[in-house]
Amino acid sequence: TGHIDDVQELRKAKPTLVPERFVRDATERPTLQSANRFPTACAVLDHDSYEVPIIDFSKLMKVDEDEGSWRAEILKLKRACQDWGFFQVVNHGIDLSLVEGIEEVAKEFFMLPLEEKQRYPMVAGTVQGYGQAFVFSEDQKLDWCNMFALGVEPQFIRNPKLWPKNPPKFSGTVDDYSREVRKLCQNLLNSIAITLGLKEGTFNEMFGVGVQAIRMNYYPPCSRPDLVLGLSPHSDGSALTVLQQGKGSSVGLQILKDTKWVSVQPVPNALVINIGDTLEVVLTNGKYKSVEHRALTHKEKDRLSIVTFYAPSYEVEIGPLPEMVDEINHPCTYRRYNHGEYSKHYVTSKLQGKKTLDFAK
Ligand code: SIN
Ligand code: FE2
Repeated sequence: TGHIDDVQELRKAKPTLVPERFVRDATERPTLQSANRFPTACAVLDHDSYEVPIIDFSKLMKVDEDEGSWRAEILKLKRACQDWGFFQVVNHGIDLSLVEGIEEVAKEFFMLPLEEKQRYPMVAGTVQGYGQAFVFSEDQKLDWCNMFALGVEPQFIRNPKLWPKNPPKFSGTVDDYSREVRKLCQNLLNSIAITLGLKEGTFNEMFGVGVQAIRMNYYPPCSRPDLVLGLSPHSDGSALTVLQQGKGSSVGLQILKDTKWVSVQPVPNALVINIGDTLEVVLTNGKYKSVEHRALTHKEKDRLSIVTFYAPSYEVEIGPLPEMVDEINHPCTYRRYNHGEYSKHYVTSKLQGKKTLDFAK
């Protein structure tokens, strides 16, 4: 702990060293996983033939003005949710100054001296503060990543001691950005409800005052990107996740598509959206999938990602909506629980594919 596992410090002191704790077993390495985990899949990754769908958010918001293009975009969104669980949104309406601003304060924060960042230590099992989340044992492999995470809404989940004073604009920028991303999530949930043949407000009414958290991930370059993972494979515990890839970052995010890892190419000013576990279970009884993803590192380039998780209020009971269950063709495959229980389970489990969702079965 301390200096030893902090990847930025490691990189600074010994640029070519990758300690054993970061070196993945052969079956988990970036270049081999596809072949080993899925014996029938190609050993060679075929990134080129696949591309994550791109949704024009402005068209989703224009039902009254242009019904035809609205309908076409809703259909695209439905396919994206069904076939991918991931899509990118363009024309999302969030001011460029906020998109750039959040990136700037995040970068500034990660560049602070370690001692200063450690004034906001991540407490195991909370995913708030600076450090490595999801680490619970000495023999667990570590990700080549530094994280800084905060609970944002509702107010009671905030730990004010963890909100940095430096850079001075940090807290205000997180607040302004988060407010906009929240609106985007709620609008997307309305559109997603429509793609399922539900009333527009179904999810937002059910979610109440949704829980929102932000996590910034900083991946320094790594001399052996073939041996390490930036972030272990996992699905998100949220309902919906909004991910901003830092400008000028290397390609890093990969999603599991038809047994292959597919890279999500950064598109200028686009945001990456994905379906989380809670949408898989609650809403859709498995119709829309919470897709496994991971992050890789790069030999020379660093990478920043800013991730917002949006989920129902803790007391909301999660379980497949009756409209999504049909005893013959789609029997209910999940149990019922409160979102707070799931959230607690998620943050106290290590990242391991879709294993966290066993809780719902
Ligand atoms: C995440 O899954 O939380 C982040 C992945 C990324 O850095 O792109
Ligand atoms: Fe994720």
